[in-house]
Amino acid sequence: MSPSNRGFEVDGVLLVTGGASGIGRAIAEAFAAEGARGVHLCDMNKDLLEEVAQDLKFYAANPAFEVIYSLMDVTKPEDCEKAVADTVAKWNRLDYAVNCAGITKPRTAIGDYSIADYQAIVDVNLSGVFYGMQAQLKQLEKQGVKKSSSHDGIPGDRGCIVNIGSICGVVGQAELGPYVATKHGVLGLTKTAAEEYGPKNIRVNAVSPGYILTPFIKTERQFAALKKIADDKVPQRRSGYAQEIAAAVLFVASPRASFITGANIPVDGGMSARA
Ligand code: NAI
Repeated sequence: MSPSNRGFEVDGVLLVTGGASGIGRAIAEAFAAEGARGVHLCDMNKDLLEEVAQDLKFYAANPAFEVIYSLMDVTKPEDCEKAVADTVAKWNRLDYAVNCAGITKPRTAIGDYSIADYQAIVDVNLSGVFYGMQAQLKQLEKQGVKKSSSHDGIPGDRGCIVNIGSICGVVGQAELGPYVATKHGVLGLTKTAAEEYGPKNIRVNAVSPGYILTPFIKTERQFAALKKIADDKVPQRRSGYAQEIAAAVLFVASPRASFITGANIPVDGGMSARA
């Protein structure tokens, strides 16, 4: 066994949904900067997709780095299938799939929640992750195991999935009922897929952000809530940065995390550690 200090060794191909903004964008940047061969950005925001795809080239550490992007909707299973197919058509392989696209809607108690808003949240945050995982797992099962050059004797992966959960995946949160339900669901899918696909050398994990300053936070009310939460509920007394989520995703997707599957990694300034 010869452990190495050569960074995260993420020299493969990343597909990231929600890759045009916030946390998804930071994840794409982190993989590019750590030596990924390719990034496939998937999102429904065309203008931002083009901008991020251009920017990524400046972060790239791998001379062979290439980026492609797809305007797609995670609520459509056929879009999720096509995103995987396009990745494989370009690079013959998918190494790291990160399901990050997510939405929220105006906060209100469950009794007052609009059915349309509830359905939209479920469609993107839960069904979108399910459809993405289905397409990704079918591909990961088909491809060969890739060994890490520095992990002698440790079996490699066929690839891995990282789902972006939330602090709301492990606690209830007033006025966020549908969002909370979907993020609990994402953790359930993550654990189940780890059980089903572990024997096939496919790892599936979740990274759960606490409150992170991204374009997800849009309204004055949300900003005020963020500050109050940081002051009252976060041991580190601040909200987080998208780069801090990306760092955890990078680690758990990397060969450094070769014996981690079915895990949920909270990145929340200690918030979920509180009773
Ligand atoms: P963001 O709003 O900056 O980015 C979300 C991206 O998802 C956007 O680019 C949007 O166009 C894309 N998207 C939305 N619906 C889509 C669809 N149907 N198909 C394809 N793309 C779609 O949000 P942020 O903060 O980067 O959030 C990313 C993930 O992190 C979400 O899953 C969110 O629930 C989660 N999260 C965020 C937290 C925060 O405080 N910002 C806290 C906990 C979890």
